[in-house]
Formats: sequence, structure tokens, C-alpha cells
Amino acid sequence: RIDRAIRPRSLSEYIGQQPVREQLDIFINAARGRGEALDHVLVFGPPGLGKTTLAHIIASELDVNLRQTSGPVLEKPGDLAAQLTNLEPNDVLFVDEIHRLSPVVEEILYPAMEDYQIDIIIGEGPAARSIKLDLPPFTLIGATTRAGALTSPLRDRFGIVQRLQYYNTADLTSIVARSAKLLNVEMDDAGAREIARRSRGTPRIANRLLRRVRDYAEVKADGRVDAALADAALKMFEVDEEGFDLMDRKLLGALVHRYGGGPTGVDALAAAIGESKDTIEDVIEPYLIQQGFLLRTPRGRQATPQTYRLLGLDAPGNSDLFQ
Ligand code: ADE
Repeated sequence: RIDRAIRPRSLSEYIGQQPVREQLDIFINAARGRGEALDHVLVFGPPGLGKTTLAHIIASELDVNLRQTSGPVLEKPGDLAAQLTNLEPNDVLFVDEIHRLSPVVEEILYPAMEDYQIDIIIGEGPAARSIKLDLPPFTLIGATTRAGALTSPLRDRFGIVQRLQYYNTADLTSIVARSAKLLNVEMDDAGAREIARRSRGTPRIANRLLRRVRDYAEVKADGRVDAALADAALKMFEVDEEGFDLMDRKLLGALVHRYGGGPTGVDALAAAIGESKDTIEDVIEPYLIQQGFLLRTPRGRQATPQTYRLLGLDAPGNSDLFQ
């Protein structure tokens, strides 16, 4: 979790994700101007890119309360009904991991989103009856790593859908520099860029590495961070030159060394590296695919010439052995 000191609180402090920022700014101002609840928002993208941060910012820009829960926590319809009936007009209800809602809970959500109403069952057996409850207007913000895992009736009920992208090095450098300032770390631009470059395009990772580099700088040097110091620290923490971590290298290594570069199924890769299929699909591979180190084909995952270069090998076909 990023701490209070460095979490941006307003859209103007939020760096990068320009299309998302520009669009939300318009939608938020329009809803505010009309005194209405903002339309429901679905935010999706890989972990660590700031989905929760964005939900906090939206609530704060709307000047309303944010209630926070998650798909797996809402076990029974009553759990969701309790959250919904506690809202004040135009509040934000943030549901993280919304793809993990159970079908019975999801049923309650449809009329709540559409008509600000819920049907609740009171009593049991022959005496049971259903009553309709009116809810205040509210905004549901749903977050998920996989928009494809949502049922289409749920997806269709979000009026605003935003995808978060991996950050480029320039934007991540600004984020690291901003966090360093808030944490009173003395750091030059090249130091910030070195941490940014090696953070898998992900602010959560960048801020974590910043704290570890700060530790290293305080213990091994005078506390100041430049590129050489950041490089020495990150090498020691096993973050490589390209910013790939141990799991990335294990996955690519297994693909190339055990499966001849593929194509091979994600289940086989999961077994080979001892990770779940979900972790590979949600956390590890999206960045590798985006960076061109992995291909997702109909026949499975496949290495690219860049993968071989990364592992210090000749790509098959270019290899002298085969010519
Ligand atoms: N911390 C995490 N994500 C951020 C962002 N997009 N802008 C500024 N600080 C952040």
C-alpha cells in the first residue's frame, strides 16, 4: 500500500494516463455542475497502476465520501445491501476486484446501478417477502485487472470505462521525483530516471524501489541518490538492467530452456515456474507482452528474438549452428 504522504489527492497531482485524466476531468466537472452523481466508472488494467488511487481522487474531486470494499469480501447479498443503504447522496462506492463478485451479489447490483433500487428478501419460508428499497443516487467505481472476466450485463452498466496503461519512463520519473521530494530524499534527475526505468512501468513498484534505494543510500553512502547509487542498489536487490525481476526471468527462462521458445500453454508454464495461471496472466505476462518479450498466440506463449537477446542467447534461425 502506498502511504498517505505520497498518494496524489487530486487529478492535477496525478501524473501520466493523460487520456484518462482529461476525460475524467470533464465528466467530474459536468456531474458536479449538475449536482448529480457521476455515472458508474469501470477502471481496468494491470496491478499497481493506481486504480484505487484514482477512485480516491474521483471521490475527493466530487467532494463526496468514498466507501471501499471488494468482490471477495461481499459474500452475501446482505453484505452489499448494507454498503448501499449506508451511502449518502452522490457518494462513491468503490468495489475492488469486481470480477470476483458472486452471481447472487451481482444480481443485487443491477437494479442498484440502473434505478438506485434494491430488492431485499425479509424472513424465510412461506412468510418471506420481498421489499423494494430506494437508494440515494451514487457512483459505483469498479476496478479489475481483467475486464474480460466481467459478465456483459455488469460491464454494460458502466457509463464510463477507463483503461490504465503502463507508464512510460518520463512519467514514472516524475512520479519518483515527486515521491522522493515528499519523503525528503535527496535525489538528482538521473537517479529518479534509473529507478523509473527499472520499475516495470508501474508506480507501485517505483515507489517501493525508491524506499529500498533510500535505505541503501543511507546505510552504504551519505543518503544522496544519483544514477550510480541507484544502479548499485538495484543490482543488489536483483532488479536487472531492463527492470525485470526474478519472476519475469523465471518465466522467460522456462519458456526458452524447457519449451524451446514455445508456443506453449500457460498451464505448462505455470507448472514449470510454480506460479498460478492467474498470477502469470494478470501480473507477470502483461508487461512482458507490452515490452515485446513475449507473444500470446492461439497456440500458446511464444518467445521473440528480443527474449533470446535478453537471456544472452542467439535466436533460433539466426544462430550459426543452423546456417
Ligand atoms: N503515485 C502513484 N501513482 C501516481 C500517479 N499517477 N501520479 C502521481 N503519483 C502517483
